[in-house]
Amino acid sequence: MSPNFSKPVAIANWKMNLTISKTEDLIRELKKDYQDLEEKVDLIICPSFTALEAVSRSLKDSTIKLGAQNVFWEEKGAYTGEISIPMLKELGCGYVILGHSERREYACETDEMVNKKVLAVTQNDLIPIICVGETFEERQAGRKDLVVVSQLNKAFKNIDQSKSIIVAYEPVWVIGSGQAVKPQEAKDTAHVLRQALLDLYQDNFKKENLSLIYGGSVDESNVKDFVDLKIIQGVLVGGASLKIDQFLKIIKEVAD
Ligand code: PGA
Repeated sequence: MSPNFSKPVAIANWKMNLTISKTEDLIRELKKDYQDLEEKVDLIICPSFTALEAVSRSLKDSTIKLGAQNVFWEEKGAYTGEISIPMLKELGCGYVILGHSERREYACETDEMVNKKVLAVTQNDLIPIICVGETFEERQAGRKDLVVVSQLNKAFKNIDQSKSIIVAYEPVWVIGSGQAVKPQEAKDTAHVLRQALLDLYQDNFKKENLSLIYGGSVDESNVKDFVDLKIIQGVLVGGASLKIDQFLKIIKEVAD
């Protein structure tokens, strides 16, 4: 696992879409072509929990990195249905997506819960991929910047500022819609988030420890618009990462 973000990153969030055997098929295809790109781009795959072990095994001889889509903050105990950090570490997971809008919506995750997870994950040297983003209503009400900065500040409360963290700006209203935001809008919001990070970190701000990426209907036709923005260091891809031909094109664009 790279301790800092010297390369751009492509992250696949496979959500609740694939059985273990289908996941293994996709990994097999990705491994072949990623070999030629590994010098230029980090690739993180976040499969479903049930496929983590199989993916972990098939990535033993690969530089593709493994991430989980969620985790619980307690180390162990009576938390039916939850997955702990030691369980993820045992499988070689280096990354965890936290605060995804789908978890905020369907699993009622609050900013406080996201913060507990961020603290536990960073204390255990996993890298969180913290998702922040506004809904359409919040955007229309002119509250976008307030919402994303508030989510960011709450997620980062009491954080150890020496840890590596990825922040994904994901406008909730474009996720899964097939229509990404205009690159200028992603750029403006990324600048707002970067300023919020500068305010939080002050003299401790080290850009090699903090990576700002974009997610939300990224595909092969728009990825270049986002990675060409200097402030964006990678992409978090849902739907388009399930089609390996498309996803490989995306990874190549991120690498270029
Ligand atoms: P999408 O999902 O690329 O399908 O919009 C992105 C995400 O939810 O992280």
